[in-house]
Amino acid sequence: MRDIVDTSVTAIALSGLRKRFAKGDTTALDDVSLEVRAGEIFGIVGRSGAGKSTLIRTVNLLERPDAGRITVAGQDMLALDDAGLRAARRGIGMVFQHFNLHTRRTVAENIAFPLEVAGLPAAARRARIAEILPLVGLEGKRDAYPAQLSGGQKQRVGIARALASKPAILLCDEATSALDPETTQEILALIRGLRDRLDLTVLLITHEMGVVKAICDRVAVMENGRIIEQGRVFDVFTQPEQPTTRHFVAEVIGHSVPDSTLARLPAARAGDVRRIVQVIFAGPNSTRGVVSEASRYFGLDVNIISGRVDEIAGEPFGVMALGFYGPEAQVESGLNWMRSLGLKVTEIAK
Ligand SMILES: Nc1ncnc2c1ncn2[C@@H]1O[C@H](COP(=O)(O)OP(=O)(O)OP(=O)(O)O)[C@@H](O)[C@H]1O
Ligand SMILES: [Mg+2]
Repeated sequence: MRDIVDTSVTAIALSGLRKRFAKGDTTALDDVSLEVRAGEIFGIVGRSGAGKSTLIRTVNLLERPDAGRITVAGQDMLALDDAGLRAARRGIGMVFQHFNLHTRRTVAENIAFPLEVAGLPAAARRARIAEILPLVGLEGKRDAYPAQLSGGQKQRVGIARALASKPAILLCDEATSALDPETTQEILALIRGLRDRLDLTVLLITHEMGVVKAICDRVAVMENGRIIEQGRVFDVFTQPEQPTTRHFVAEVIGHSVPDSTLARLPAARAGDVRRIVQVIFAGPNSTRGVVSEASRYFGLDVNIISGRVDEIAGEPFGVMALGFYGPEAQVESGLNWMRSLGLKVTEIAK
């Protein structure tokens, strides 16, 4: 597979952004800096009110920051005049949670809307619509009205409209939050496919880590108007640093052992200890038979409580809950040996 992300080119650079809303006395953005590379799908997650929408809306200046710099495709957005801003916005498509379609316009007329505004002649609009309908899987829906479409189809119209003027950048504000899980996966697959085919750069915001896991290359976590953590999706998922990030990641990695199960686990023999740990298998040693090795090398009994393998951003990883039994020094040595292999070992119970 070709490398879609061109790490040498910055598509969106935000720096030192601040935004305060007098109404409600809210600091929505508190010194936010972020770089999105050309061709990547960058996710921003955070709880409701964290400032995600305010942040994404600064990229095309739907929201003007009080301070900071916004550079999109090399252009200083805050330095543009009205005509310059209109032109720049044609290079930035945006998709919304509730689709924002014109109910009295057909699919084709909805998609054509930004092209009309841009003054494109009717023939050119028709040509672009014919080109874009199959790209988003809406062949045959050209003349349907939004009320005749499913939620997933409506969002396909929203995506087609966002891409009508051939932007290089796509902004998605909770694009799948109004959709059921299956439709969500279809729309995410569509967005990823469009990124690949059209060389798009995608900045998306969501409150669901599942969305990030499904399609993002990198992710930033927002809290109280600040970015508290960011990195490659695989790294953030397998090694979250902040409590909020751990909370989000747990939704997806989630592997706490129910108390009722813990209560049923055998106790340690007299003189021995028991350690219940979660082990995340990632990286070069993820496929090594560490459980049986730890058992043999350190003379431990190992109880496999639960386990699961999964894939994040295309990389395999596994998570297991294990019970280690034996003399304390041996148990500690065994756990430390596993850590030394690069596995993430977290004690979840004694
Ligand atoms: N136009 C506005 N006027 C006043 N306050 C606003 C305005 N827009 C946003 N805020 C406030 O700024 C903060 C951040 O809002 P924002 O919409 O960016 O959060 P969010 O992370 O997108 O949340 P959600 O997940 O609920 O969409 C919130 O406290 C919100 O109430
Ligand atoms: Mg929002």
